[in-house]
Amino acid sequence: MKTLLTQHQLDEGVSRLASEISHYYRGQPLAIVGVLTGSIVFLADLIRRLNRSLRLGLVQASSYRGAATSPGELVIHTGLLPELKGQHLLLVDDIYDTGLTLDGVIRQLIPHGPLSVRSVVLLRKHGRKIAAIEPDHVGFEIPNEFVVGYGLDYRGAYRNLPYVASLEAAELSDTPELMPDSSLRGST
Ligand code: XMP
Repeated sequence: MKTLLTQHQLDEGVSRLASEISHYYRGQPLAIVGVLTGSIVFLADLIRRLNRSLRLGLVQASSYRGAATSPGELVIHTGLLPELKGQHLLLVDDIYDTGLTLDGVIRQLIPHGPLSVRSVVLLRKHGRKIAAIEPDHVGFEIPNEFVVGYGLDYRGAYRNLPYVASLEAAELSDTPELMPDSSLRGST
């Protein structure tokens, strides 16, 4: 495992994002919605740096390929959403990889009637983009490596690391969760 972003770098990056976001939404009603589960550490740090009123919520997005769903269909659970009507919506996610998760979440939240929809991601991976949509705020650009820590997991582990590390190929076993054509690839 190789450290990619130290606690200090993360701290500075999150502060920079908070200042961009505070500036952008000054005086506007704001709802912040984190995409479970990977965003929670970033979300918790980010909102504590926003010195303003806001509404907070969560969505869970899972990408399934099974008999009952179309290939790659994204299923969004919206039970923990705040009221979005009359609010500007800022989505918070851990990592922009292909962009399909963010694209799917945005499409499914637009009918909830927010005044606008933008997004912030802690990390953006190079060379993986498929979706047309771009995140509006990006913490760090990273190489195309599998990363863990600061909310991101490998088989459910490492989310609580206070830094971001990349796993070497030898540390990644051939798990279905990491395969692009898997039957269940949760956006967690
Ligand atoms: P897409 O491709 O839809 O993917 O932009 C976003 C979701 O995929 C997961 N993901 C990762 N999770 N380390 C992780 O722990 C990674 O390197 C990684 N790359 C993608 C993550 O759930 C993200 O929200």
